Amino acid sequence: MEGAKGTVCVTGGAGYLASWLIMRLLQRGYSVHGTFRSDQKFKEDISHVVSLPEASGKLKFFEADLGNPESFDAAINGCVGVFHVAHPIDLEDKIDIDKIIKISMDGTLGILKSCLKSKTVKRVIHTSSIAAALMINNRNDVQEIDESSWSEVDFMRSVKAPGISYCISKTITERAALEFGEKHGLDVVTLLPSSILGPFIGSNIPVGFPFALPVVFGTEELRNFLKESSLVHIDDIASTQIFLFESPNAKGRYICSAKDVLVHETAKYLSIKYPELQISTQSPSLMQDAKPLHLSSKKLLDLGFTFKYGLEEMIDGAIQCSKEKGLL
Ligand SMILES: NC(=O)c1ccc[n+]([C@@H]2O[C@H](COP(=O)([O-])OP(=O)(O)OC[C@H]3O[C@@H](n4cnc5c(N)ncnc54)[C@H](OP(=O)(O)O)[C@@H]3O)[C@@H](O)[C@H]2O)c1
Repeated sequence: MEGAKGTVCVTGGAGYLASWLIMRLLQRGYSVHGTFRSDQKFKEDISHVVSLPEASGKLKFFEADLGNPESFDAAINGCVGVFHVAHPIDLEDKIDIDKIIKISMDGTLGILKSCLKSKTVKRVIHTSSIAAALMINNRNDVQEIDESSWSEVDFMRSVKAPGISYCISKTITERAALEFGEKHGLDVVTLLPSSILGPFIGSNIPVGFPFALPVVFGTEELRNFLKESSLVHIDDIASTQIFLFESPNAKGRYICSAKDVLVHETAKYLSIKYPELQISTQSPSLMQDAKPLHLSSKKLLDLGFTFKYGLEEMIDGAIQCSKEKGLL
């Protein structure tokens, strides 16, 4: 039986954000078509999503791969909306950057073409990243980033930083998605989350946690590199996606970030609340007196969204969930 609000498609349905989003969409009365990669090499266990209490009769999974753009047709057919969440994430920069860009671009444009073909999709919520706004040459002169800022591709290609292929592919793909929407009269809204933190329903540590909470989940390289992070709770991001889908006046890009914080501050909180994790607050890489860059969510707040979760709930959600699942 179809949910009262119609059927929507969520790409990359087994992932951290997508699985949480599917849970919230089902609870809100939508039926969901999730997509997952069929290749045995990538096949993610989707049992954590299909076993959600609200899933029975309302959730169907389809095999689809960004490397095969037309494979999304079946999942999108008959849907009123598409939440495009899947992205080839290679935060360790192991895969050739142009290969990542091609998969992301071909897959995203294929999904948008499937939306046009369906004739039923009213809006696409494309999940971009703050990485598509943040990587600018003159960043030291800037105190605040808003939606007018676009990461500079030539600059990014010239710097060495962890996860740079991710930043480049997110930037190029978001631009292409917005341009496709303009050109073909398809309503495409893009969402730029900062680092997402909080509990998770999958069985592995989410791939972005090393960037969100480097002092707990990051490599030494990352711990030395990252001085500040901007964070948002997983439930606030899923709510934002649904809010943007349902808001008649949503248009263009939206940054969604609840808290800008120095890594030193999170290290201090963690060392007091979770002494067993033995977090050091003395590392020379932890700046104690700087002011973090502000990522402005004003456009989203002006549209009527309100954040529900603060920093402690994000950190506690992530740590406690990791412990409960025996991952920390
Ligand atoms: N986590 C964050 O802090 C953060 C912040 C800003 C933006 N975002 C964006 O949010 C989205 C979700 O990220 P996440 O943190 O939830 O990561 P995730 O758990 O790794 O989810 C990514 C999903 O994309 C799928 N995918 C990767 N390559 C694919 C391909 N070639 N074809 C089809 N599906 C493919 C993955 O499928 P497999 O399971 O088969 O690998 C996975 O389900 C991404 O677009 C990411 O850029 C995340």
